[in-house]
Amino acid sequence: MSAVKSTSMRDNFAFVLFGGTGDLAMRKILPALYMAHRNGLLAPEGRIISVATTPLDREGYLNWVDDAVRSHVKDAELDEDAWRAFLDRLGYVELDASQPDAFPRLGEVLKHTQGRRIFYLATGPSLFVPICKALASADLAPATSRIVLEKPLGYDLASSTAINDAVGKIFEEEQIYRIDHYLGKEAVQNLFALRFGNVMFEPLWRREWIDNIQITVAEELGVGGRGAFYDQTGALRDMVQNHLLQLLAIVAMEPPQSMSADAVRDEKLRVLRALKPLSEDALHESVVRGQYRSGTVRGEVVPAYLDEAGIQKGSSTETFVALKAEVDNWRWAGVPFFLRTGKRLAERVAEIVVTFRPVPHSSLGPAALRPGSNRLTIRLQPDESIRMSALAKQPGLGMTLQGVYLDLAFDRFFEQNRMEAYQRLLLDVIAGRLALFVRRDEQEAAWRWVAPILDAKGAPKPYSAGSWGPAQTSALLARHNACWREEEN
Ligand code: BG6
Repeated sequence: MSAVKSTSMRDNFAFVLFGGTGDLAMRKILPALYMAHRNGLLAPEGRIISVATTPLDREGYLNWVDDAVRSHVKDAELDEDAWRAFLDRLGYVELDASQPDAFPRLGEVLKHTQGRRIFYLATGPSLFVPICKALASADLAPATSRIVLEKPLGYDLASSTAINDAVGKIFEEEQIYRIDHYLGKEAVQNLFALRFGNVMFEPLWRREWIDNIQITVAEELGVGGRGAFYDQTGALRDMVQNHLLQLLAIVAMEPPQSMSADAVRDEKLRVLRALKPLSEDALHESVVRGQYRSGTVRGEVVPAYLDEAGIQKGSSTETFVALKAEVDNWRWAGVPFFLRTGKRLAERVAEIVVTFRPVPHSSLGPAALRPGSNRLTIRLQPDESIRMSALAKQPGLGMTLQGVYLDLAFDRFFEQNRMEAYQRLLLDVIAGRLALFVRRDEQEAAWRWVAPILDAKGAPKPYSAGSWGPAQTSALLARHNACWREEEN
């Protein structure tokens, strides 16, 4: 992961955005490209061509973007001159991506662009193969082009394999960028720095010293306007198969030989392959699927999942998952990794909590033997911080121990603004840096591991919006004499 290239080395590009009127384009991709433009990180000649079925001319599209994207860019970052110049880069092609005959029209537009072609597929996975085939048959994807595939890639292992096979006939693996935006988060990259740039964590980073690891990605939001998509997807496919397992892989991986794309991805792959398969019993004991009922989030009464727009009557799609995973190797044997994610939870927070074992013998009385006294909390959002909890002596004559914190809040330490994940990742695609993208084998290993959970149907357990999920979630940890971070006293 080399530093972002200097402006003199900016690579020229023609960025073709399929799904150009969609929610992701408006909320994430175009704002990220605007920020890269504003920060002077895009080659001046670089062009963005949005493709969608909505009947619009260029002016109509620019008006749409002007309305929709502005609200996703922070006021302080919206510089009118830069914004106008950014819009000048944009073009629009109305095209039904399932109709190969229409692609020569895109070819006409591409003739007027220079630089490396980048095809970003911000569409449902069912269009990935038709788009790749149509690009190939219209001869629009030379060997220098790159393709970006959004998640979820497929619906399960079989469909993801079929997509990867078909895409792999047209693009080489080195041309394929499978995006998982969690890998672009500054705090996730900091995990590499923390683990492999410091000597003091690595010797303790193993079963002898670690009691359990919790990875939480909790959201306050519900499914919003994405009900129909989400109802086909659910939290397992939307979050666990990708974001949470990627975080787990980075926490548990061996130090890679270098930060080259394959060195990093080889080590993550080893972890994903070492995940202990979930047996029938483990599915009952170690997995909790939940679905929110109505409740109160931040003082506002919100509807039940089943009453949201686009959700099928009686749907059993899960909006919450908590589970115990184990990495079956020498370093981690027996250490539970508790993963949890959900919509409409009590708090928006993403964090990794590493709980160390108590001291093996206490010269200082029972307080030092309390589990959870030493804990490393790596918070990814809403704020980025690293907190180490330890025991210290209370001032006075006695030897009374008390929990204290060593804290690092990144925004207090570093003055530079942090780059949004999508901006970072799009710049990586343009520059050809693959380390923060998911390789096919990693992705398939993750699908393979979640397969038994996907197959195990059944009604999800209810939880109130604004809570921390179904009651069974606490029991999952209690069985290991552990508790979730917010349950500590
Ligand atoms: C996306 C999921 O990948 O990640 C969304 O599809 C989810 O459902 C989002 O809300 C969470 O991302 P972040 O960066 O806001 O934590």
